[in-house]
Amino acid sequence: MDRHDVLSVSEVARRSGYAASALRFYEDQGLIEAGRSAGGRRSYERSVLRRLAFIRAASNVGLTLAEIREELAQLPSNRTPTKADWQRISRHWRGRLDERIAALERLRDGLDSCIGCGCLSLQRCAFSNPADIAGTVAAGAAYLPGELRRPHRVR
Ligand code: FES
Repeated sequence: MDRHDVLSVSEVARRSGYAASALRFYEDQGLIEAGRSAGGRRSYERSVLRRLAFIRAASNVGLTLAEIREELAQLPSNRTPTKADWQRISRHWRGRLDERIAALERLRDGLDSCIGCGCLSLQRCAFSNPADIAGTVAAGAAYLPGELRRPHRVR
């Protein structure tokens, strides 16, 4: 393997924008794999940069670590993924993204209307959520898609 195809931890951290600790975390989660350089130091194949870019993009559109792992698990672990490999993920992921886009559109279009959150602060709430009946349906904004009501990690 050409030495340009093997990157050190610091090279991957610099190029991917992830801290070395994050790389270790993703290794522990089984999302990326490190090898050992001739000198025994942890190193990565250059193709790890695409996986890390995918992880960041997927996280930013709200995919969970489990969902990201499921997608990346479709990639071969014994060779550099090809375009066809990534196309397979893209096809599988397309449905998930369409769901997300639809949910975000609902949010964009619904924010000036009652979302069934219990605040009863909009005139519209009197019609859409009298006496907060939405509270009997679900916690949070009951009228928003489930996709947008998923529990998330509070930092
Ligand atoms: S917007 Fe909150 S209850 Fe209607």
